[in-house]
Amino acid sequence: MNLRLKFTLSVLIPLSLVIVFEAYAIFSAQKSYLSLQLEGERERSFQMFYRACEEALKSDNERQIDNIINSIVPIHRPAIVYAAFVSGHKKIFIARDDNSNIASAFLERAKRSYASITETFESLTGERIYEYVSPITTSSDKYLGTLIIGFSQDYTDLKVKEGVSVISHRIQMVAVIAFLFALFGANIMAFTLVKPIKLLAIAAKKIGDGEKDVEVDISRGDEIGSLARTFNDMAIKVKEADSMKDSFVSSVSHELRSPLAAIDGYCDFLIDGVNQDYPKEQQLRGLKIIKDAALRLTSFINNILDLAKMRAGKFEMKSSQVDAGEVIREIASLFESLALSQKKTLKYEIADGLPSVCADIEKIKQVITNLLGNALKFTRENDAITISAMLSASYGPEYIEVWVADTGIGLTKADAEKVFEKFYQVKEGEFKKPKGTGLGLSIVYEIIRLHNGRVWAEGELGKGSVFKFALPITGK
Ligand SMILES: Nc1ncnc2c1ncn2[C@@H]1O[C@H](COP(=O)(O)OP(=O)(O)O)[C@@H](O)[C@H]1O
Ligand SMILES: [Mg+2]
Repeated sequence: MNLRLKFTLSVLIPLSLVIVFEAYAIFSAQKSYLSLQLEGERERSFQMFYRACEEALKSDNERQIDNIINSIVPIHRPAIVYAAFVSGHKKIFIARDDNSNIASAFLERAKRSYASITETFESLTGERIYEYVSPITTSSDKYLGTLIIGFSQDYTDLKVKEGVSVISHRIQMVAVIAFLFALFGANIMAFTLVKPIKLLAIAAKKIGDGEKDVEVDISRGDEIGSLARTFNDMAIKVKEADSMKDSFVSSVSHELRSPLAAIDGYCDFLIDGVNQDYPKEQQLRGLKIIKDAALRLTSFINNILDLAKMRAGKFEMKSSQVDAGEVIREIASLFESLALSQKKTLKYEIADGLPSVCADIEKIKQVITNLLGNALKFTRENDAITISAMLSASYGPEYIEVWVADTGIGLTKADAEKVFEKFYQVKEGEFKKPKGTGLGLSIVYEIIRLHNGRVWAEGELGKGSVFKFALPITGK
């Protein structure tokens, strides 16, 4: 059963039950109301004739009684079937719509009736009769006679049925209209629900089939709207993960293949050299290249393993009191000759009286090495690199801050937020970038995170970038 049908049924079934119960309740209330009304009317007509007879008997006017009795049936037919008065002297005045002689039956009943009674019975002709029998007495309790009026119960029932059939007709109409409206409304609702779900299903399938630029165009303020927004966010993440995978594959293959190719090539060269007596210097150069390639491989593999270890929370820190200024001076001095050879200026500014921090010194060295390495990598000739350390202005005096600023190629704001992601590398612009792995800054991020610090980047495209990190003085 599809969603649309399910939704429609779930609206229509309870609605139908409500309509049926409501209709039944209205129908029976209307039926008893009509019955009560007609019975009241019947009672009132009887009382009217009773008082008319009473008046006539006061003046002992038999003719008037006869007139009353004879006028009742023709006027009120078919509501009243017969009327009779049996006087104290057993004289009977009688009227019946078919004029049949039923005097003897009345005499018998009148004799029994010195008290008011009502009775329902079936007449000889098969009609159901509701009969009033009531004695008429003087104020001194002298018996004057008995008034008997037979109302047609069938007629009363028929009137009730007619009244009820009008209302039942209306209820049916209202029910059909309500049902049609509900059917229409439920279908529209189901349609508006199912359509975006179908769009989402199609988009999900596209992602499953490997399509990259997938976006669902649903803008609604409800849960489906938020599902669509979440879906689009997810699609962006999938795309990013996909491109991250691509850059991972390309950097891994480059970082593995090129040193391996160098090792392979120079091993062949050295084997030839043994046979053909190559000069010693040439053989030494080959060995150095093999050594460099092996070091490059080791560093790449170590980076990947370190990162995985830190991410899995398996990395154990060896904390001690670290003088950040001293570490900066030490690492910067290692880069000085490289900077000089590339015609870049490298300087450091360390605030006086900077407190030491509780940290893993080797890891802090790794952070500064990575940042300075990048600064040299992403700057051009005559650019300047400054590394500075001070008490943090943003996080307060319990933190020290280290900045590595350069006047190099710079970063956009969007890239500044992403460079710490694993394997992320800014796409090559006019500046021809040296190859990298995109792992250095992820390692920086993980190390600073382990130290409960913060790291972030700022920059302007073409003007330079600043990488900043803050470390708490007291450590963990
Ligand atoms: N100082 C910098 N100036 C401009 N861009 C930088 C700088 N440092 C890092 N980046 C950008 O961040 C990316 C990620 O850096 P990193 O994780 O160290 O990887 P890699 O150095 O191997 O490319 C770099 O590829 C580069 O695009
Ligand atoms: Mg790097």
